[in-house]
Amino acid sequence: MKTFKILLAATMGIAMIGAAGSAQAGVAGTKHDLTPLTTSPSTAQICVFCHTPHAASTAVGAPPVLWNRNASVTASFTLYSSPTMDNATSQPTGVSLGCLSCHDGATAYDSLVNTANATALTTPGSTMPVGVTNLGTSLANDHPISMTYGGLAGAEFVAAVSGKVGVLPLFGAGSDQVECASCHNPHDSTNGKFLRTSNNSSALCTTCHVK
Ligand code: HEC
Ligand code: HEC
Ligand code: HEC
Ligand code: HEC
Repeated sequence: MKTFKILLAATMGIAMIGAAGSAQAGVAGTKHDLTPLTTSPSTAQICVFCHTPHAASTAVGAPPVLWNRNASVTASFTLYSSPTMDNATSQPTGVSLGCLSCHDGATAYDSLVNTANATALTTPGSTMPVGVTNLGTSLANDHPISMTYGGLAGAEFVAAVSGKVGVLPLFGAGSDQVECASCHNPHDSTNGKFLRTSNNSSALCTTCHVK
């Protein structure tokens, strides 16, 4: 009996370590867990601010991942430009529009397609607070997005293989577009700032740029 108890305690210990580990890598407890901002946290769901299992948005620009946000990003964004850019940038597309549906500071957080289970925020319709996480509608001072990774002066960029540069995914029909989610994983903040890989020694940057 004693052995059983010790075994049980040991097993539970391992289970708890496992649970703590996965909680850290997931959305819960990160800045993308918006449930603390809702009027009824006990019924609110973590994923609902971005996803729904049924009747998801298929509006043009909505990321094709059971998207639950009204893709009413109507802003016209000021784009990054510089004399040395080879690529033309376009108005944000796909997954970047998904991010900007909160981070443009203009679209409401709780503008959801499927508002099951009371997901109103304490201040319904509120937008991203003004600050560094609010990119605004001018992307002129942000790393360019929504441009083609391929076709660049070869020696300056690490080659993409099967729609990825190292661990960084490219998006769009041709799996060749750099978007917000190339550098960020909205579900995992283990590296801080939802970065897909550590940026120590600028490792994130040199995954793509040969510099
Ligand atoms: C703040 C917005 C946001 C929240 C909250 C969120 N997601 Fe996502 N999710 C995204 C975006 C954007 C994408 C597409 C980009 C990507 O693939 O990382 C995505 C993609 C996905 C995908 C497909 C690609 C992949 O990474 O596997 C799955 C599955 C997914 N999410 C599940 C979930 C679940 C389950 C939750 C809740 C625990 C959740 N998401 C919470 C924004 C979010
Ligand atoms: C449902 C709204 C929503 C969506 C969609 C969303 N975010 Fe966020 N994001 C937030 C909020 C809220 C915060 C925290 C704001 C604050 O505290 O200033 C945040 C914070 C962040 C931060 C800062 C994290 C930190 O630890 O400081 C990053 C980076 C980020 N988001 C990137 C993204 C990217 C990239 C996407 C798309 C793949 C995305 N977000 C989609 C709402 C959203
Ligand atoms: C080329 C890579 C790259 C792309 C593309 C990118 N980001 Fe980031 N982003 C970063 C890095 C690196 C940081 C961390 C900067 C730091 O630690 O000061 C960051 C930080 C952030 C922050 C937190 C700002 C802060 O100081 O707390 C937000 C919010 C954010 N990004 C949102 C976005 C959104 C939205 C998009 C698309 C419109 C995007 N990012 C595209 C690399 C990128
Ligand atoms: C996913 C791949 C990728 C990552 C990661 C990435 N970049 Fe880029 N970056 C690009 C592409 C593609 C361009 C567009 C180059 C062009 O068209 O000339 C670009 C453009 C730039 C430019 C503008 C160049 C110009 O001519 O105006 C700078 C500066 C830059 N990146 C710096 C960074 C830094 C710093 C980081 C890390 C925080 C980073 N990049 C991460 C792919 C990436």
